[in-house]
Amino acid sequence: MIVEPKVREFICTTAHPVGCMENVNRQISYVKSLSFPAEAVQNAKKVLVIGASTGYGLASRITAAFGCQAATIGVMFEKPSNGKRTATPGWYNTAAFEKAAAEDGLYAKSINGDAFSEEIKQKTIDLIKKDLGQVDLVIYSLAAPRRTTADGTVYTSSLKTTDSVFTEKSLDLKNNIITQKSVEPATEEELQGTIKVMGGEDWMDWITALSKAGVLKNDSVTVAYSYIGPELTYPIYFDGTIGCAKRHLTKTAKEISEKFSEINAYVSVNKALVTQASSAIPIVPLYFAILYKVMKEQGTHEGCIEQISRLFRDKLFPADTSGSEKLIRMDDWELNEKVQAKVMAIWKQISTENLSALSDLDGYWEDFYHMFGFHFDCVDYTKDVDICVEIPSIHL
Ligand code: NAI
Repeated sequence: MIVEPKVREFICTTAHPVGCMENVNRQISYVKSLSFPAEAVQNAKKVLVIGASTGYGLASRITAAFGCQAATIGVMFEKPSNGKRTATPGWYNTAAFEKAAAEDGLYAKSINGDAFSEEIKQKTIDLIKKDLGQVDLVIYSLAAPRRTTADGTVYTSSLKTTDSVFTEKSLDLKNNIITQKSVEPATEEELQGTIKVMGGEDWMDWITALSKAGVLKNDSVTVAYSYIGPELTYPIYFDGTIGCAKRHLTKTAKEISEKFSEINAYVSVNKALVTQASSAIPIVPLYFAILYKVMKEQGTHEGCIEQISRLFRDKLFPADTSGSEKLIRMDDWELNEKVQAKVMAIWKQISTENLSALSDLDGYWEDFYHMFGFHFDCVDYTKDVDICVEIPSIHL
């Protein structure tokens, strides 16, 4: 099949298997070009990544495997191809990851299913027991729109404010023009739903289940990912429903460390980057496009793989919480004063007319298409490709 991008606003409904492989291989090559300190290699030998197929979780799995030579188990929620539709990008990414891991003699197995469920937790525990015995690092990198709990209740995550309507400039992704976007305040139910889905409860459930099963090594580490961002986006992010969920995540890190003697929990506050999850947040894509421009000019721009390899090399072993109890600040370069002053100055002036000159709109869209395996110069998109790709460790 000839696979072309089909973009609907902030999502692309097709993915290219060869392009996704290119995306993964580029990240692997980058990690292989770096050296990792002995502390990282010694403490990330057997790694479980929950949310391992795209964005920050995929970058974590690649860093652990190809930077630290870790055995990895990845949990994800992806769709294979049915022969007519392409698979989701995370499916192709995982196939490419496992192929590269096998070539390097690295253990890699993947579990596809709902990480919120008890069934997937048990399946993961059984696999750890069978193949690895115990894990020493657990990365929690889920970004999900909803969660079904054991009693069958479905909770939905919302991206809303928590007090009044917030109106700001926004990039209309359908036609690349600047509009005004208003974000409504959440109801109490929407707020609680977001905390259920994106807060720390499920992270705690995972660690409880892993600890009970005895599959956590003594002195192991668990990290979940969060975002804070600049004041500009506080109403929609930090002070919004998602920010409340992230505060719950931070509280959970403390509770995990207190409750389980064998594990230390941290929250890594990462940089804003184009991923499937973040493209859906209103107002934020325009901030991304400006931030990319400023950070690229100042030489500090990073993608997921640069962020996570810096986390593993410099800030996780031992955890650098810089005075705060549980937070590792990987957003230090994003929130740098020089960066933010420039971003805010541009934000005030930006309009449809000067959008291309004042922001890195092309960089935004390049990252977006790359996520789905498109717009790589070295891939021949006119060529027929087999869209049915198997993940070696998953038997359908
Ligand atoms: P993403 O959309 O690229 O990745 C989400 C991952 O979760 C995928 O592997 C997906 O398969 C998996 N997943 C989703 N629902 C699942 C389910 N029910 N069961 C099993 N797996 C499931 O998202 P991204 O952006 O990498 O987000 C990961 C974490 O990083 C989130 O906590 C997010 O808030 C955080 N973060 C993201 C930032 C950004 O700008 N993208 C910035 C800072 C933090």
